[in-house]
Amino acid sequence: MRLAVLASGRGSNLQAILDAIATGALEARVVGVFSDKPTAPALQRVPEPLRWSRKAKDYADRGAFGTELADAVAASQPDWVVCAGYMRILGDAFVQRFRGRILNIHPSLLPKYRGLHTHARALAASDAEHGASVHFVIPELDAGAVIAYAPVPVLTDDTAESLAARVLQVEHPLLLAVLQMTAAGRIDEQSGRAIVDGQPLFTPLRLEFATT
Ligand code: GAR
Repeated sequence: MRLAVLASGRGSNLQAILDAIATGALEARVVGVFSDKPTAPALQRVPEPLRWSRKAKDYADRGAFGTELADAVAASQPDWVVCAGYMRILGDAFVQRFRGRILNIHPSLLPKYRGLHTHARALAASDAEHGASVHFVIPELDAGAVIAYAPVPVLTDDTAESLAARVLQVEHPLLLAVLQMTAAGRIDEQSGRAIVDGQPLFTPLRLEFATT
């Protein structure tokens, strides 16, 4: 399974993918890491020939950046595109080009808290449970079919930072679990619905992982 990974920042989810490949836990190859932030530490996690980055603000509009990004991703001939901490909205053209083959990991229990500041919003709402979701990417932000999610408890003394750190602990095994199913050919998207083992998912898979 050839993976193109889009990342804007630290790249711990990318590292989890690379580690799983290195140990043989995931049968895949990262064929490119693509970023809208040339200084993103995520880029440093792969050899130079696999890195692509451009400053989005150097482009006239979202479409122009999206087209160049899509061309670069397509040139790497990926089977799947994985957004792992990619913080820029993918334009319609990009999504249509890879539709049904783009996954995103998002730090909330979707459909709650699409967009930014998910941890602070879960705290503000006094949620007892928070977590992360892996979903198909569609043009509408964080609105595609959810394949699987992993919950974490919200503790009384949590800050947005402590909660984010706990969520990150489940993000890595959650993303890996979905990618293992993807590599095994078990994941698909049809008519906007996630398909697992040939069956439409009416409820996303709930995967539980221990946190400290
Ligand atoms: C992760 O928490 C990921 O879920 C989130 O950014 C972080 C990236 O961490 N993604 C989004 O908020 C996407 N809207 P990482 O760079 O260490 O993988």
